[in-house]
Amino acid sequence: MEIKKGLEDVYVKETEITYIDGELGRLYYRGYSIYDLAEFSNFEEVSYLILYGKLPNREELNWFQEKLREERYLPDFIIKFLREVRKDAQPMDILRTAVSLLGIEDSKNDERTDIRGIKLISKFPTIVANYARLRKGLDIIEPDPKLSHSENFLYMLYGDRPNEIKSKAMDVTLILHIDHEMNASTFASLVVASTLSDLYSSIVAGISALKGPLHGGANYEALKMFKEIGSPEKVNDYILNRLSNKQRIMGFGHRVYKTYDPRARILKQYAKLLAEKEGGEIYTLYQIAEKVEEIGIKYLGPKGIYPNVDFFSSIVFYSLGFEPDFFPAVFASARVVGWVAHIMEYIKDNKIIRPKAYYKGEIGKKYIPIDSR
Ligand code: CMC
Repeated sequence: MEIKKGLEDVYVKETEITYIDGELGRLYYRGYSIYDLAEFSNFEEVSYLILYGKLPNREELNWFQEKLREERYLPDFIIKFLREVRKDAQPMDILRTAVSLLGIEDSKNDERTDIRGIKLISKFPTIVANYARLRKGLDIIEPDPKLSHSENFLYMLYGDRPNEIKSKAMDVTLILHIDHEMNASTFASLVVASTLSDLYSSIVAGISALKGPLHGGANYEALKMFKEIGSPEKVNDYILNRLSNKQRIMGFGHRVYKTYDPRARILKQYAKLLAEKEGGEIYTLYQIAEKVEEIGIKYLGPKGIYPNVDFFSSIVFYSLGFEPDFFPAVFASARVVGWVAHIMEYIKDNKIIRPKAYYKGEIGKKYIPIDSR
């Protein structure tokens, strides 16, 4: 009996959404290279591509953008929840609960999955930015329908319109997080969807899986690690110490990539650009990250372990003004597109996901009454 631990190398569905070449370090959304999409496209267009399988024409893009802009607002009961909930909660717990609450309100199950998906894609940034401000004792900023998805996300965080560099960095970072084939959170959301449960429940499962430090929580862990190191001169000893204690370098390693993650290559450029502009603590953290990258590759590269998406995204998110524990929730704000697309693709030819566990215990035991045990 061969058990594929962690379902490593097991295919669970056919897909036309995303292709990863883990040996060459390449990533394609619907056949388009991630490098081209990051350079020439934008979040709205790439989301349409992922959801509907083609780049939109102008009319289709206008419809999609309009729909996203309309849906940015949160119902009053979510605002009330954000205002009243404790202010030291994990942002991923807030997001998970807010989506669950939205699901209770939107419980009639007759809407198209893509339309419900658009609502969630649109509302995630508002939930995240509103909670980020309330936690700092600031009041929430209403969405601005004139701004693009990424600009509006930062606007709701800052209260001012972001500059061009920050808007582009945010947009590219969101694009790079939109989908990644059969990662743990996408699989979790498919398990729920395959029982014909509703979209909100499936997305709650996705958020729950993404939260963990081995998945979307790694960006938060990477930044904590850079802060703990404190200065570039301390990197070598820190990494050696960590590896000799069998601890992992957060933001390194991947189940599929055995080389440099292409998303990390792109994010490194933005991390550098933003850190140089910001200076101060962020520039020091960037220098530490660069040194961790160099020393990490020296020791782990020969085993096929390289920086992944979470390594430099941590510096980008921090430079953009997000507190470290918000990073996974920003990641989720992009990955929700991939979850919805994979759910739509899977349920077209649904089969309930129900694997097996190989029983190794005894059978036929005699029941013993409690007083005789
Ligand atoms: N630092 C040090 N050693 C590592 C690392 C790391 N980051 N990643 C893997 N290894 C070692 C691991 O100790 C093991 O060594 P050995 O064979 O000697 O026991 C070997 O590499 C294989 O590791 P594994 O855990 O069996 O590999 P996996 O495919 O099951 O896990 C992973 C993949 C991403 C969970 C893992 O690389 C990891 O824990 N990385 C750190 C957390 C992280 O950055 N996660 C983000 C993943 S990418 C984007 C996302 O999902 O958010």
